[in-house]
Amino acid sequence: MPSIAELRPAPPTVVGPTTKKATRPSTTLPQWLIDGARMPEKQVFDAERHLEFQPPKGITTMKEIGLEGHGISPVAASDPFPLFTTEAIKQIRAEIFSEPVLRDCQYTSSFAKYMVRGMGRERAPFTCDAWSSPELLRRVSQVAGVDLVVSFDYEIANINISVDNDSSAIAKGDGNNDSSAFAWHYDSFPFVCVTMLSDCSNMVGGETAIKTPSGEIRKIRGPTMGTAVVMQGRYIEHAALKSMGGPERISMVTAFRPRDPTIRDELILTGSRAISNWSELYHGFTEYRLEVLEERLRLKQKQEQKRVDTKRPFNIREMTAFLREQQAFLEATIAELIEVEDMD
Ligand SMILES: [Fe+2]
Repeated sequence: MPSIAELRPAPPTVVGPTTKKATRPSTTLPQWLIDGARMPEKQVFDAERHLEFQPPKGITTMKEIGLEGHGISPVAASDPFPLFTTEAIKQIRAEIFSEPVLRDCQYTSSFAKYMVRGMGRERAPFTCDAWSSPELLRRVSQVAGVDLVVSFDYEIANINISVDNDSSAIAKGDGNNDSSAFAWHYDSFPFVCVTMLSDCSNMVGGETAIKTPSGEIRKIRGPTMGTAVVMQGRYIEHAALKSMGGPERISMVTAFRPRDPTIRDELILTGSRAISNWSELYHGFTEYRLEVLEERLRLKQKQEQKRVDTKRPFNIREMTAFLREQQAFLEATIAELIEVEDMD
């Protein structure tokens, strides 16, 4: 079993230019969608009341798709599993279509015409509390096969919205495959959880296609309302397939990283930079990177003290390897802090 550091590094994500300034959608969301999401009663997130977790019926393993030993977990992707109650979905939708969120958090990209990102705790307390709750993290970690935390607050929820037969909401595929709604790509985050916020009962399609290293294509069933799927998207080439039927399709993507600071961390900002308030994005990213580094140094320091206490000799090779790993971690962090054109 190779050590985590010896494994193949994660591939880069395949998305557009990374220094492009973030843009707002040129057209507004239909009023029926906004009106339909209003909730007279604002609730406080309560895991008892708002979660109805059941484990997925099936899991696709990294081994099954020819990627054994890669990534941070043996799990590649899950089948859809029940996660949120209908009541919880309504609360989340009410936050997404609230006035402050629509004013401050709308973005557009070649991936989706309407996106909502960086809602934050003030504008979206229910959504943020849900994803910070130990119960929800425990459930998602259980399915993912590794203990996960939300990567950082800014990435708590990326909402992709497509409306009616709005063909412009469907980005160009790879050109060879008519059924591909989004281009083939790797995610920027080790794990993502995709939760469906729309009623999909009349919808067809919406699966995720996975391309194995041997070129074989597999389909993973898409989630239905209230259910979610997890996928180790940083290490798996994948594309979302077009869905048809139903007036709207709204999905929430939450980005995760491993809780254990000693597990390698290959999170990048390629996919986020052009669709973010870069100041908030860079803050969240550097804050968690510093925390991880702090924790790693503390653990190493403890280990070193133990060595002294047990009167073993100083191990140059081991210490050098540790320091080099942290050096590479810092270099990788610096490399993400690319200058971005200012937002409007
Ligand atoms: Fe993806």
